[in-house]
This record gives sequence, structure tokens and C-alpha cells, in this order.
Amino acid sequence: MEERLQKYLAEAGVASRRKSEELILAGRVAVNGNMVKELGMKINPQKDQVTFDGKPVRCADTKKIYIMLHKPEGYVTTTKEQFSRPAVLDLVSGIQERIFPIGRLDYDTSGLLLLTNDGDLTYRLTHPSHDVPKTYIAKIYGVPNETDLQKFRRGVIIDGRKTSPAKIQILEKDKDMKFAIVEIIIHEGRNRQVRKMCEAMKHPVAQLRRVATGEVRLGDLPKGKWRYLTEKEIKYLKKLY
Ligand code: URA
Repeated sequence: MEERLQKYLAEAGVASRRKSEELILAGRVAVNGNMVKELGMKINPQKDQVTFDGKPVRCADTKKIYIMLHKPEGYVTTTKEQFSRPAVLDLVSGIQERIFPIGRLDYDTSGLLLLTNDGDLTYRLTHPSHDVPKTYIAKIYGVPNETDLQKFRRGVIIDGRKTSPAKIQILEKDKDMKFAIVEIIIHEGRNRQVRKMCEAMKHPVAQLRRVATGEVRLGDLPKGKWRYLTEKEIKYLKKLY
């Protein structure tokens, strides 16, 4: 059966589906020895020989790996970086398979980051049409009042567009009212979204940590450490779409 080249690359764990499209357009993928430079090509995995940077890409025997990392602050989520700041993949050692992050966390954000070589899962979980709730704990400057919180919940304008309804609740208040610890749940994944939403509420973020993606929780995994997802967690994520 034929399938799209970018889907095949994603399933083989080369990169996410979107990133695989970029790799094709960059001329790094060949089918039967011919470089492919356009999207839309279909291949027959049984017959066609696909290579990425000259190396054969095989699907069937690629073991799928699912990992949770407690990302510390001071690491970039991208796989390679021109300024050579530490990258999250530096923290995941001993894995033979080429894995990549599902979505991203800012350099200065810590918390739950999922990594996998399952390009299909990555594509689906990061697609804007999927509204998997993401839970954050933020330390913010000042203590928001009920009006601020309602505004945040209904949605605020960031980058010229209103955010979709979100949840926020105060967990702790500093006795001098200088800080508050809040739990925030959002369904979108816009750039620096939580920071921008808190800024719009006039209570900017001092520290930010993601603690859950849907029902997959960071729990007590120490900062900088990783673990394999359980069968139950993998099943849950796959059921989300
Ligand atoms: N929102 C942010 O502002 N930063 C993140 O890293 C994730 C969500």
C-alpha cells in the first residue's frame, strides 16, 4: 500500500511529520536514489528504497520509544542550536533511537517534556486542532484579584488574538502579597503563551513549570531525570486522537 513520504519518514522516526516535510524540501531525502524536492510524493514501503542523508530509512523494525523528561531551566527544546546552548537531548543518554520532543518548553521553563520517535503521535498531539490540556504551576509577581482571574479565564489578547478559555486558581499567597503560586490549565500551545497571558493580567511570571499533559503527570520525577512512559500512559496519549 502506498503512503505519503513524509508520513513514512515520521513513522520511521526520522522526525515529526512537519519536520520531515522540511527535510524533503531541503533535498535530504531520496527515493530509489533520486532526490525528492517536492511534497506530495507517495511511496510503496515494500518496494521503494528511501534514504535520508544517504542512509536507508526503514519502518517496520523501528522500535517506538516514549519518554518523559523533567526539563530543567536553561535548556533549549530544539534538537540543534546555532548558539550551542545546552539542549534537552543532552539529558537523555543511552537511547539508540533518534528521538525528538513533542512540542516545546521555553529555555527558562522547567517541567514535563515528552520525547519520542513516534512521528505520528507527535504530529497529532501538536496539531492545533487537538486541545490536550496542559497544566502549569507558576510563581507570579503580586496576587491577582477576582477580576484579574476572571479576565484570564475568559481569555486575554496576546499577539493580537484572544486566547481560548483557560483555568487559573491561586494555590498560595506570599504574606507580603509580593508573589502568588497559581495553577494554570490551557488548551492551546502558542508561543510563550502562559507568560504572555500572565503579563496581560499584569502579574508576570517569575517561574514556570509544566506538571501535566492531559492525565500524564510529572509526579516526583527529579529535575534533569527521565523515565519511560508506562503502557497505560502511552495508551492514554494514543487515545487522545
Ligand atoms: N507557556 C509559556 O509561556 N512557556 C512555556 O514554556 C510553555 C507554555
